[in-house]
Amino acid sequence: MKQKIGIIGLGNMGGAFYQGLGKIFPAEQLWGYDKNGSDKVKNFADSARDLVEQVDVVILAIKPQSLGDSAAELKDVCQSKLVISMLAGVPVGKLQKTLGAKRVVRCMPNLPIKVGQGVTGWIASAETTDDDKKLARKIFSAFGYETEVAEEKMLDAITALSGSGPAYYFYLCSVLTAQAQEMGFNEEEARAIAENTFQGAAKLLEGGNLSSEEWVQAVASKGGTTEAALDSFAQDKLDEVIRRALEKAGKRSEELS
Ligand SMILES: NC(=O)c1ccc[n+]([C@@H]2O[C@H](COP(=O)([O-])OP(=O)(O)OC[C@H]3O[C@@H](n4cnc5c(N)ncnc54)[C@H](OP(=O)(O)O)[C@@H]3O)[C@@H](O)[C@H]2O)c1
Repeated sequence: MKQKIGIIGLGNMGGAFYQGLGKIFPAEQLWGYDKNGSDKVKNFADSARDLVEQVDVVILAIKPQSLGDSAAELKDVCQSKLVISMLAGVPVGKLQKTLGAKRVVRCMPNLPIKVGQGVTGWIASAETTDDDKKLARKIFSAFGYETEVAEEKMLDAITALSGSGPAYYFYLCSVLTAQAQEMGFNEEEARAIAENTFQGAAKLLEGGNLSSEEWVQAVASKGGTTEAALDSFAQDKLDEVIRRALEKAGKRSEELS
């Protein structure tokens, strides 16, 4: 059966989902609705309720704080649908209760889904069927790596690791840029040096020949410059600094749930 899939909320994430799904499903199977309208969606529903009535699978991509407003409108039409929610911090149980849905998948994608290289952690309610899960997996894998987590609290870990992860990379890149300027390069050069260094390194890792640890060893020759920097990281216990930051991010995600 050709299932129809509808996305409510076509902002950053919902818009990226609509575009990405357009590569694996024919446009006729895809629906969308956003209260601000959209000129990109072929089948644009009249309302969120109309969308749910039209489709078999509802992807919820509104802000978590908008859920309450939508609930009254959607409650009696979600019962027989598979609902996939990406609302950060909203647990499966709350989604089931608020929307009156049983078959619920909660996912935590990250921003690089926009370029098809995202990481999505997800978990399904007990009522979800094997076919539902298969479909969810197919949807998420259209945006990069996906992993079904064993317990819902692992989504807090996913949030700390891959959800916030892109910001850690951008942060490191901006530190390298600032230091390049300190060392005498102009802003444009500094940015190009930092960005190309990280992107080139990511490409090498993508080749899959070596693990990240092995690449560190490959770059750091005995007594050389890289080793001097790595020794300084070790002395400053950078690994512990990062571990603490990840723990804090995970705790914050827990608090927000
Ligand atoms: N951005 C990330 O990296 C990321 C990662 C993981 C999960 N998420 C989750 O993804 C969800 C979407 O985030 P986003 O960054 O894409 O938000 P966004 O850009 O603000 O997009 C949400 C869109 O939904 C619209 N909307 C709000 N209520 C609606 C309703 N009742 N019916 C139809 N449309 C409605 C919004 O309109 P208004 O702006 O007018 O309200 C907006 O256009 C959030 O729940 C977030 O927690 C985001």
